[in-house]
Amino acid sequence: MLEEEYNPRRQLPAHLRPAPPEEPVFAFEIRPATSRDIPDMLEIYNYYVSNSTVTFDEDALTLKEMRSKFRHVVDQLHYPWLVAVSPSGMIFGYTYVTPWKQKAAYRFTVEDSIYLSPAATGKGIGKALLQRMLDEATEAGIKEVIAVIADRGAEASIAMHAKFGFTEIGHMGKVGFKFGRWLGTVLMQKSLKKAKKGTRALV
Ligand SMILES: CC(C)(COP(=O)(O)OP(=O)(O)OC[C@H]1O[C@@H](n2cnc3c(N)ncnc32)[C@H](O)[C@@H]1OP(=O)(O)O)[C@@H](O)C(=O)NCCC(=O)NCCS
Repeated sequence: MLEEEYNPRRQLPAHLRPAPPEEPVFAFEIRPATSRDIPDMLEIYNYYVSNSTVTFDEDALTLKEMRSKFRHVVDQLHYPWLVAVSPSGMIFGYTYVTPWKQKAAYRFTVEDSIYLSPAATGKGIGKALLQRMLDEATEAGIKEVIAVIADRGAEASIAMHAKFGFTEIGHMGKVGFKFGRWLGTVLMQKSLKKAKKGTRALV
């Protein structure tokens, strides 16, 4: 028999034991994006360009292209563009809306986009970003939001939009070809309604 079996290690009673280290809290805040966030957002987006079918872009977006999109959405259209940020300033993800189509009568309808860095997914950040986006879009007078989502590889996005009351309004088959296979898009739509005073706008 081993010596330690004769002398089992003494353990302090529960009330005298030091508290176990606290689980790290996954903290983040949501704020309007600024032009300084563009390189980080570009890196997140280009990860999905290279590694997924959630975007149908095949070539990495350039900094110039991202800057020009940002200026158009934020400075010219005054639409919301938001980021989720860690307490130390790391960008976890972003969301924005763009006009659904250019023709004037579509002016109350937008398409949403949302991308999180891969390590930040599955922790509730997408839900928080989308909620804030929908609230701000409502405030901006937008009436309809459309999500155009790949029908393969974007299950989280489809589930999240459904959770927020987006309903499927169409499915276009084989409209994209990436990584050697045909892809379709699921179209989902949500109508925004201004909240009565003291109530939440959405969901
Ligand atoms: C889609 C995305 C924005 C969702 O954000 P997220 O922070 O990962 O999601 P959350 O943790 O907030 O969860 C929101 C809901 O999405 C769904 N969801 C999240 N991860 C999922 C997964 N792996 N599979 C299926 N559903 C999932 C669930 O319905 C979840 O709600 P619940 O936790 O109450 O059940 C994020 O995963 C992402 O950036 N994915 C890659 C890029 C992308 O697909 N962008 C959308 C292009 S259309």
